[in-house]
Amino acid sequence: MSTYQTMGVIVSNIEAITPKIKRFTLIPAENTQLPAFTGGSHIFVQMQDGDKRYSNAYSLLNSPCDKNRYQIAVKREENSRGGSAFMHDKVIVGHNLIISEPNNLFALVPEAKKHILIAGGIGITPFMSYLHELRQKNSEYELHYCYRYPNENAFSKELMTAEFKDKIYCYISSEGNRLKLDTLISRLPEGSHIYTCGSGSLNNGVKQAAKNAGFPAHQLHFEQFAVEDKTGDAFTVVLAKSGVELDVDSDSTILQVIERNNAAHVESLCREGVCGTCETTILEGEADHRDQYLSDEEKQSQTSMLICCSRAKGKRLVLDL
Ligand code: FES
Repeated sequence: MSTYQTMGVIVSNIEAITPKIKRFTLIPAENTQLPAFTGGSHIFVQMQDGDKRYSNAYSLLNSPCDKNRYQIAVKREENSRGGSAFMHDKVIVGHNLIISEPNNLFALVPEAKKHILIAGGIGITPFMSYLHELRQKNSEYELHYCYRYPNENAFSKELMTAEFKDKIYCYISSEGNRLKLDTLISRLPEGSHIYTCGSGSLNNGVKQAAKNAGFPAHQLHFEQFAVEDKTGDAFTVVLAKSGVELDVDSDSTILQVIERNNAAHVESLCREGVCGTCETTILEGEADHRDQYLSDEEKQSQTSMLICCSRAKGKRLVLDL
């Protein structure tokens, strides 16, 4: 089970940094310092909107040396499930929020000879804390930042400085300026690592260009906060403690079906296979793992699964619930 701690913070500042993105500064609600973090870390922000509760993951933007505040950027999503709209419309300066301690699934690889960061749109956010760390360690790096319109550069003030002149490259697609992934990847020195955060098509483009160039797959890293596909064949889940049997249809997750039927209480934070909070022991059957939390060995052992996103391989699963 995940050991995420949560803590109270206060929103001390909100700035609109593009027409669709706001930056929130969070300070501790108690008179304490915030937990330390490393470049690429994220936190979960819990939002209570009446009887609705959301929990979204956001990358930390500020310097990992800064223990007095966290900064996150929130893009208002067109198809928001509620979280980004809540942050944009309802959160004001002075608002109390509950956040998780930082976690890092996208850390810099210390042995990389050169770090190549590729950002698409709001995917720039994990790289903002990377930049602090890379500068501090005097590491070799380049940032390639792709966005659609000139006013979508969320951090122009921070990035368009003399310090970054030879390290940061911007590509504005509405001006016909696009990153040529094949050219970029084919010229990288041996020992480089590539970190990508953006849309599924950017990720696929990087994977394909890396394959074309013979770039080692284990030196590619992707930041992903959402499970690409939670759907699959229907199956039955049995809750061993109560003996309750539930049908999980092809579009629902085990967690959703349990909640809909009020069949057990399961803690959940991210609901996207990232945080590990919903990890549940498997007593019979095998899971079709979809999460990013369990290691390959843990997945192979089939001893537990994350029921917010993973499914059954067969027709029946018995869980220790
Ligand atoms: S709730 Fe986070 S992994 Fe399931």
